[in-house]
Amino acid sequence: SPQSRRCSKGVAMTHEQLDVLEGYKSKCTMSKDQLNALVDDFLRRMNEGLRSEGQMLKQLPSYVERMPNGEEAGEFLAIDLGGTNVRVVKVVLEDRKVKEVVAHEDAIPKALMRGTTKGLFDFIAKQVKLFMARHSARPTASGTKVPIGFTFSYPMKQTGIKNGELICWTKGFDIKDTLGKDLVGLLEASMREQEVEGEVFAILNDTVGTLAASRFADQDTQLGVILGTGSNAAYIESKGNISKLSAGGSDGGRMIVNIEWGNFKSDHLPYLAEDREIDEGTPNRGSQHYEKMISGMYLGEMARRACLRASREANLFGGTQRRRLEKPWSFPTSLVSEIDGLGSGRLPQVKKALSKALDILEASVSDGCAHFVTEVCRLIGDRSATLAAAGVAAIYRYLTQSGQVALDQRFVVAVDGGLFEHYPRYKDRMDKTFGDLLGGQAKRVELVHSPDGSGIGSAVIAAAAATSR
Ligand code: GLC
Repeated sequence: SPQSRRCSKGVAMTHEQLDVLEGYKSKCTMSKDQLNALVDDFLRRMNEGLRSEGQMLKQLPSYVERMPNGEEAGEFLAIDLGGTNVRVVKVVLEDRKVKEVVAHEDAIPKALMRGTTKGLFDFIAKQVKLFMARHSARPTASGTKVPIGFTFSYPMKQTGIKNGELICWTKGFDIKDTLGKDLVGLLEASMREQEVEGEVFAILNDTVGTLAASRFADQDTQLGVILGTGSNAAYIESKGNISKLSAGGSDGGRMIVNIEWGNFKSDHLPYLAEDREIDEGTPNRGSQHYEKMISGMYLGEMARRACLRASREANLFGGTQRRRLEKPWSFPTSLVSEIDGLGSGRLPQVKKALSKALDILEASVSDGCAHFVTEVCRLIGDRSATLAAAGVAAIYRYLTQSGQVALDQRFVVAVDGGLFEHYPRYKDRMDKTFGDLLGGQAKRVELVHSPDGSGIGSAVIAAAAATSR
């Protein structure tokens, strides 16, 4: 038709449609200068967070001070409260190996995420009880109760390895009366009520667990990163640098610090209008901007909103398609991942995937629609991985510049989470950004998948805590 022109991949689209797509391309793509400015900002915020509380990057002391050395031993239960599931894992540490792992995972009912504190902790205790019955987890000879490590993947203020108070919920949780409560106390009370024979030895963030688990196996692990429903990282810091630690910061030791990088914000972030819209609809509005651009919870919603914009502004997707797209959160991140994996070279399969997921007629999806969605998914995936890599590169710079990691040392980054695990070429995309930001040093950054890291790490840390008392 007269108003259509060919786009680069040979798909017919109107000028308006191509303009919308070009708009996304130019906003999502970051120049090296922009990336470097972002990294500088991140470093500045890291330093701020070490100096005082209440900063953008919370830099939370974990009180994990003795790094796992592979000698930890025994049988432990790890309870892992994530953004989507509760996992219970039985971990046996023996002969420097993780010998046996049985895991059980249950989705957290949506209503519980916005219900009461007691409702949530009773649910967790029930999962532990069921697990113990099924997998005959039994107390070790030395104690009467099964030792538990509790992975609690939300920001908490700690005063010791067994104390944690919730600072704020993230990732869609919104239970008002949990703030400020002693989380271990809550879990133990619910377990007691349900006659679960367990004792919590440690409470920790999932990033801290991932770092510890990987370090148990590889002493060159410097960082634990989660790329899943949410996103965050933890690293090992000299206590002397954590100037906000009131006491004991000067004994020359080190401690794992949970950055809570999800809350990073910067003028150098490649914001889209969709980011603001998503933020406005979340219970933690104004917080976790970086996480909302990176993590699995939000990528589908971003794609949905982009398609809806193209539908309104450029007449892409009409009728039933548009009505389906109007439903918030109806576009799952797994679809973004699937479509991005297929790529622009396989439009028939993209049409099939899209029509199936949105329950629309396959024949009604035009080449233009399929091409647009594929490109948008790729941009969203690229932007996510680029930003996550920029965070890792910032921490790399911080640790090498402050002399805490030598330039000839390996820099192993342990990563866990569904996004990293399942999103196509996520690691490759991150590696590309390391190249852009770190040049020749990029090859020293080794991203390794640490499956179940947060659970195993929790057992490792509970083991260390149990033996040191
Ligand atoms: C959110 C939480 C953080 C957690 C991350 C990954 O960002 O605030 O504590 O580590 O999700 O699960």
